[in-house]
Amino acid sequence: MLANGDDAQHRLYGHRKRALFAEIDGRGGHPPTVVEIGAGTGLNARYLLPGAAWIVVEPNVHFHDHIRAEAEAHGLDLDLRVGTSENLPVADGEADAVVSTLVLCSVGDVRRSLAEARRALRPGGRFMFVEHVAAPAGSSLRRVQRLLRRPWGWVADGCRPDQDTELLIEAAGFSDVWIERFDADLGLVAPHVAGVATR
Ligand SMILES: C[S@@+](CC[C@H](N)C(=O)[O-])C[C@H]1O[C@@H](n2cnc3c(N)ncnc32)[C@H](O)[C@@H]1O
Repeated sequence: MLANGDDAQHRLYGHRKRALFAEIDGRGGHPPTVVEIGAGTGLNARYLLPGAAWIVVEPNVHFHDHIRAEAEAHGLDLDLRVGTSENLPVADGEADAVVSTLVLCSVGDVRRSLAEARRALRPGGRFMFVEHVAAPAGSSLRRVQRLLRRPWGWVADGCRPDQDTELLIEAAGFSDVWIERFDADLGLVAPHVAGVATR
């Protein structure tokens, strides 16, 4: 099902991902090491620099063949690791960048996932994200998000439409956080953020 939505996602988010991920650089002229959490079908591979090391932590094994195919198609050096964002199987400071798109809304423990992303980054390394977020407090959309949270979670694999991901990222201890808000035409989950948090 998720794979069927990839084209729509490229149309919706492609330009933002391309601009964000173009900023990823490696150490001393080497290709970058990019850790991606919850990579799904591997649809972000096309936005990464060919030759990059792509460490993917995706607990759903049904996606793994898709991820392998995307790595091959886009010239990435794939290292598929078993684990979760809460317990990243990545050494301290191993990553030049950690990438998360539409993942933090459904992980079990967001604070811990952000702490793990920060730990995995080298000093100056960057956490890059595109996530849907809660509508502004007090808005009617926020009320609807809260009301529909449980049934939405049942149909959307545990996704929490009213999660204040933006605040959680800002509170995660990064030295610098840049966040752009935007709305996508997606009803209940229209409000989004894209950004970069630097370790
Ligand atoms: C809505 S999908 C997004 C997939 C992809 N990143 C995208 O932009 O389309 C959420 C992904 O997060 C993964 N996921 C859920 N919980 C996770 C966790 N604790 N750690 C890492 N990945 C997780 C799911 O298996 C799924 O691939």
